[in-house]
Amino acid sequence: MTQDTLPATAEAASTAPAGAARWWRDAVIYQVYVRSFADSGGDGVGDLPGVRSRLPYLAELGVDALWITPFYVSPMADFGYDVADHRDVDPLFGTIADVRALVAGAHALGLRVIVDVVPNHTSDRHAWFEAARAAAPGSAERARYIVRDGRGPDGSLPPNDWESVFGGPAWTRLPDGQWYLHLFASGQPDLNWENAEVHAEFEGILRFWLDLGVDGFRVDVAHGMAKAPGLPDVGRAGQAEMLGTAALPYFDQDAVHDVHRAWRRLLDSYGGERIGVAEAWAPTPERIAAYTRPDELHQAFNFHYLTAPWEASALRDVVEESLRTAEAVGAPATWVLSNHDVKRHVTRYGGGERGLRRARAAALLTLALPGSAYVYQGEELGLPEVLDLPAEFLRDPQHLRGDGTGRDGCRVPLPWEGDEPPFGFGAGAAPWLPIPAGWRDLTVAAQSADPGSTLALYREALRIRREHPALGDGRLRWLPGPPGTLLFVREAEGGSGGEGRLLGCAVNASGRPVRVPAPGSPLLASGPVRADGGHVELPPDTALWWDA
Ligand code: GLC
Repeated sequence: MTQDTLPATAEAASTAPAGAARWWRDAVIYQVYVRSFADSGGDGVGDLPGVRSRLPYLAELGVDALWITPFYVSPMADFGYDVADHRDVDPLFGTIADVRALVAGAHALGLRVIVDVVPNHTSDRHAWFEAARAAAPGSAERARYIVRDGRGPDGSLPPNDWESVFGGPAWTRLPDGQWYLHLFASGQPDLNWENAEVHAEFEGILRFWLDLGVDGFRVDVAHGMAKAPGLPDVGRAGQAEMLGTAALPYFDQDAVHDVHRAWRRLLDSYGGERIGVAEAWAPTPERIAAYTRPDELHQAFNFHYLTAPWEASALRDVVEESLRTAEAVGAPATWVLSNHDVKRHVTRYGGGERGLRRARAAALLTLALPGSAYVYQGEELGLPEVLDLPAEFLRDPQHLRGDGTGRDGCRVPLPWEGDEPPFGFGAGAAPWLPIPAGWRDLTVAAQSADPGSTLALYREALRIRREHPALGDGRLRWLPGPPGTLLFVREAEGGSGGEGRLLGCAVNASGRPVRVPAPGSPLLASGPVRADGGHVELPPDTALWWDA
């Protein structure tokens, strides 16, 4: 396996089309987890018309685009990440006409729409896998997947020691004794990306959605399609601990980049700057940045930022390293704090009042950093992880791992309005996961009426971000600050129309109040601050933006 340092191709970066709007370099993109956003059909599950009905909310929030999680035909073994037909909509979520209406509605409000594409695996109910199951070993049907004979005298042992991300062996036996690979659930067989038919099929799928008008794709498991030649053993158990932190023969192989290069050519052949964003869990920021070399995808989620603890030196290190590695390939950094796969950051940062304080400060930090940012639905409401879902509701296949990383708690439906569950999520059946009664004060309606709410903070931060010439794409300059703080300024660059304007950001990630220089007028703070003559007293876990 070769996992050497990947060369940065910075010279190619400077040849990026001059004068292009490059909207994605500083876009704020809102992740809609369809199942849990808004239920228009009354079955307790969110759907596409539900998303459409709430587009004005997203426009008012002030984001630039939405990323909508999979709504394709699926048996829902992994809630839609097991796709049985990539060119049609699951009736649970709506119809193709609903996608068209949603895209048109979003575009009319100035919002772009990106959708998921899931290329590493299909559902085991996909027509291709059904054909592979029925066909003989060595057939063309089996060659679309990764199917092997087992080990041991009677082939009753899996072909190697790879483990599924969801726990247990990554291989399941077919009735005739061969084994198929599934890096996720057994209902998600891995495709064989050494097969030309697979490439052609996915190009067709991308074209289908691009022709329909989507503005790009979030590429699921973008680090997964290439496997090390010969499928070598990892050599140890407990591989879940290595995900995104160590080299593995089934993830982040150099050959995977060939797929992204081909897809970039395809995206570029369409007008309107359609983008690709990589969901790539790779061991270092440098290896993540490799997915955004000039001839690959446009963005890659910064999971090292997401997993950093709330601690000034750790945050500063990851910010510096991310900016350095992104700049080396000419790409924007892409900041993310939460998504549908991880514990919500209010809870990761300690939960309760303190977790919320930190999450609010983290929002100002994130939105002040150079590059693009993602907002996961509900983070703008300061929602915590729901840790006490009754056992009968736990549905996520990742529960099989048994290490407490099940993902239901971050997928609880959004509270929109009213005094009791389901808080306007839907008007019929109970939501597929129960919404805590305690979220009464966290609804969109309740927070809209409160200028001190987390929603009000996000709206104001996003408004300032759109209007202030120093925010968005560009660079930052660190300033010296007391221990436990992050202090930097953003400066408007030439051509922005606001030359010389500065935006300062101070974050107190320490446990005590600090006094920091803030030579300008305070613009927005995540908590109560006291300003006096060019300095500001920041309470613990509080951030401030100032203007100069
Ligand atoms: C990605 C998705 C996750 C899914 C997995 C398998 O990590 O974000 O939800 O379970 O891929 O498709």
